[in-house]
Amino acid sequence: MDLFSPIKIGNYPLRNRIFMAPMTRCRSIMNNIPNEMMAEYYAQRASAGLIITEATQISTRGIGYPYTPGIHAAEQVEGWKKVTQAVHERGGRIFLQLWHVGRISHPLYHDGEFPVAPSAIKPSGSIYTYEGMKEFVTPHALSIGEIKTVIEQYVQGAKNAMKAGFDGIEIHGANGYLIDQFLRDGTNTRDDEYGGSVENRARFLFEIVKGICDAIGSDKTGVRLSPSGTFNDMKDSNPQKHFTYICEKLNGYNLAYLHIIDALEGDIRHGANVVELSVLREAYNGILIANGGYTQERGNAAIQNALADAVAFGALFLANPDLPERFAENEPLNTPNSDTFYTQDEKGYLDYPTL
Ligand SMILES: Cc1cc2nc3c(=O)[nH]c(=O)nc-3n(C[C@H](O)[C@H](O)[C@H](O)COP(=O)(O)O)c2cc1C
Repeated sequence: MDLFSPIKIGNYPLRNRIFMAPMTRCRSIMNNIPNEMMAEYYAQRASAGLIITEATQISTRGIGYPYTPGIHAAEQVEGWKKVTQAVHERGGRIFLQLWHVGRISHPLYHDGEFPVAPSAIKPSGSIYTYEGMKEFVTPHALSIGEIKTVIEQYVQGAKNAMKAGFDGIEIHGANGYLIDQFLRDGTNTRDDEYGGSVENRARFLFEIVKGICDAIGSDKTGVRLSPSGTFNDMKDSNPQKHFTYICEKLNGYNLAYLHIIDALEGDIRHGANVVELSVLREAYNGILIANGGYTQERGNAAIQNALADAVAFGALFLANPDLPERFAENEPLNTPNSDTFYTQDEKGYLDYPTL
């Protein structure tokens, strides 16, 4: 078995195990509405076994980066239809990544209102806004009633994704955004049923998982986690213990997949408490997607060693629209240009050459 062995995700038979990792590209220029440029970008990459889209806001309060798309307004659903149609016309499959940034935002995105989080703990550092870089603020700690509303917004986001023609959704529980802020004891110091023990800190994630599975089907629902992540000032006293519990509990939901980001170079530099993939593989029985610095060789090895069922490629897919074809033919790869990762036009977006 290798990256080219077919695989089933939910009820979808996929032609390969070379998935496209979710990547924010900031091309939703007007009102966070997906456009033709994005339809072309994703269609170019339709030979992936599965595309997972860039992170997409479930509510206006979920925004923390300029020109990123949403899935909470009717025009956004209409915009995404262009994307799903273009990918399906080329025989691809595409899941939408559902996102709420939590404290990784700024009042400038919310007419002066404060970003929200499990607890009023300010991230260190600063954030990009439409008015330039600004220091993070101390977020508003969500009340229980507000938490219930956010959970409903996730469920509505999943329903909207189905209306937009997506094949499924991925719950973004990684990289220091709202769900991850709940999961970790460095950012969640609540003393109610959403904080304290890992069972309580994970309640927010599991209520979202349950709500979405009930609404659109567990076979169309994936979850992404970054147990070793330090991005966005994340800290946790015992990630191995906590994420093993979470992965074991996810077994009860019959999900389409669990998507794990391994420790990245930045995490190692920040002294991350690394959780080995083998530990999580042991804990989780369903389809597991691995991601984080994989090459074709490492991806094949992960599949052959039964560490992962599929591999998601980020930067390599960004720069190589025909990544599976290049892997198949052992052709050289284009180099990703980080200067154009988050710019607003077609340069560095639609113009990476195919073979
Ligand atoms: C330009 C860019 C944007 C990204 N945006 C997202 C995102 O929206 N959601 C997410 O979960 N991860 C995001 N990531 C992380 C990637 O999905 C992936 O975890 C990371 O790039 C490591 O994989 P790689 O080594 O194959 O690139 C982004 C990465 C890049 C390079």
